[in-house]
Amino acid sequence: MVNKLKIDVVTIFPDYVVMPLAQSLIGKAGQSGLVEITANDLRDFTSDAHRTVDDTPYGGGAGMVMMPTVWGDAIDSISNATSAAVHELIILTPAGELFSQSMAQELSLSEHLIFACGRYEGIDQRVTDHYRTRPEFRVREVSIGNYVLNGGEAAALVMIEAIVRLVPGVIGNPESLAEESHSIAADAQDEVLLEYPIYTKPSKWRGLSVPAILTSGNHGLIATWRREQAISRTEQIRPKTRE
Ligand code: ADE
Repeated sequence: MVNKLKIDVVTIFPDYVVMPLAQSLIGKAGQSGLVEITANDLRDFTSDAHRTVDDTPYGGGAGMVMMPTVWGDAIDSISNATSAAVHELIILTPAGELFSQSMAQELSLSEHLIFACGRYEGIDQRVTDHYRTRPEFRVREVSIGNYVLNGGEAAALVMIEAIVRLVPGVIGNPESLAEESHSIAADAQDEVLLEYPIYTKPSKWRGLSVPAILTSGNHGLIATWRREQAISRTEQIRPKTRE
């Protein structure tokens, strides 16, 4: 049996995510029936005339905080609409654990992902705390990097692209995934090996030639050269910082 992945994005800007998700590989994955993605408007789960989603922070401070009431109603409704045994609730926040290839790998085997895109200063902490007490949910607060975006939408798109391409059957040639898994996918945060440099035709361009070894036909030597390149590139670009 093929595992089908249902993805729900919850946002006050559904249009922000709809078009990108309809394109390219993700769009094809949707057409093939392997993945089903829905953009949900958080404001559809409000109960006041103004469709309010935020309020001022307790304890003071700048900005607004997204209310737990509306998020709770949205997440309950969206989770009740699927038959998945477990819902992976992903709350996008710069204060979360860092997204990685291994997290993408793990999430690609899920049945149901819910991406909660916060705006403003973020979502009331009790949303995380509440769903962590519910056995049918697995809750992760996730950041895609150490920088601050205006909201979680772009982060959700990044995660969805990384996850969907790993869903079995989505990439026609699983060899390309297997090759990657020898490099960046081996990450345990600091155990990343960057990809070796790649070349195509023409063999000479603006005075620059393709490294001769790549046209030698010697696959053993090419494999060794690529591995050395990957290691030296990794040392140069991502030097290990030691205390
Ligand atoms: N929301 C704002 N900044 C973010 C980040 N870096 N990762 C995930 N969600 C965010």
